[in-house]
Amino acid sequence: MDGFVPKRVLYNGNEIPGIGMGTFGSDRYSPAEVSAAVAGAIRGGYRLFDCAAVYGNENLIGAVFEEALNSGVVKREELFIFSKVWNDQHGRGEVLLSLAKTLRDLRLDYVDAFFVHWPFPNYHAPGCDGDARNPDSVPFSTDRFMATWRQMERLVDMKLVRNIGMSNMTIPKLEAVLPLCRIKPAVLEMEMHPCFQQPQLFDYCVAQGIQPIAYCPLGSPNRPERDKTPEDFIDMEQPEVLAAAQAHGIHPSAVCLKWAIQRGAIPIPFSVHEKNYLANLRAAMGDPLTGEEMAALVKADKNCRLIKGQVFLWSGARSWEDLWDPKGYICS
Ligand SMILES: NC(=O)c1ccc[n+]([C@@H]2O[C@H](COP(=O)([O-])OP(=O)(O)OC[C@H]3O[C@@H](n4cnc5c(N)ncnc54)[C@H](OP(=O)(O)O)[C@@H]3O)[C@@H](O)[C@H]2O)c1
Repeated sequence: MDGFVPKRVLYNGNEIPGIGMGTFGSDRYSPAEVSAAVAGAIRGGYRLFDCAAVYGNENLIGAVFEEALNSGVVKREELFIFSKVWNDQHGRGEVLLSLAKTLRDLRLDYVDAFFVHWPFPNYHAPGCDGDARNPDSVPFSTDRFMATWRQMERLVDMKLVRNIGMSNMTIPKLEAVLPLCRIKPAVLEMEMHPCFQQPQLFDYCVAQGIQPIAYCPLGSPNRPERDKTPEDFIDMEQPEVLAAAQAHGIHPSAVCLKWAIQRGAIPIPFSVHEKNYLANLRAAMGDPLTGEEMAALVKADKNCRLIKGQVFLWSGARSWEDLWDPKGYICS
């Protein structure tokens, strides 16, 4: 399917594929299953992969990249690889160390985009219970974040990363840090699906020339139990999504992806199942939703955040909402 995947251009002129594949196996899929899916996805035409050190599978995915590059299935310049520095490596000198391990694991000389995964240096053990709290957790600090970002900028200078990005940010935090950036983020990962559209943050990024990357674009139906609450909405069951799916004769997942792409985002859906990940790539090609369908989908928004981030709360914080600055200023 290569050659048909739509591309976008970042503010710095770099091209990026218009859809990618997530690689967070969560508690459900082993590194071997995820890396096997990456191998199949490359053969199927995916070129963008959303990796992260904390997903615990970069070493196996790296073996897949190496094999695909050595066998000529794909050229390095055709791939667009993301990775992210985890919260426990924000300190001075540590971002470079984190990238070094990622490059070694992924068996690459550079990554195409490197993200600050969360804007807090708050560590929790992978897979820990949703009620777990680390007493060392701290609220957001612009100075601390910028000390991390300066290291990200130097990685661009060193040509070890082509673009840098932020993730899980809010408008108040962006307003605090963007004027201080020597190199602005080219990409920003945010949760985005029909039931959680984040219109203000989305529009803010676009106005700043930052490309939004939509994570959980299908509403993450298999997310860990700790990230589920009884109030959550199911994207693929919303009437607006079902109506468009029926009109086009496609699965509701394809509607979620077409909506994200037509809105201007780059979705990074995850699946280890070939039928699903190939269908997701096909959803990015042709048969667009109509203007009426796009307008109707705006009504699917329920402001339903799924990845609440409660394990990153600091002592004194009231609830997970504090991580997301709901009052329009940075909560501390
Ligand atoms: N920056 C961050 O903090 C952050 C946070 C969360 C996620 N992410 C990234 O975003 C990626 C995607 O998020 P996600 O995995 O949570 O959610 P998602 O992509 O919205 O949903 C993935 C789930 O949807 C199902 N699915 C996929 N394609 C389907 C299809 N065509 N038909 C029906 N079901 C389908 C899959 O089930 P099956 O496995 O059964 O196919 C899979 O478990 C992650 O893998 C990760 O790379 C980043």
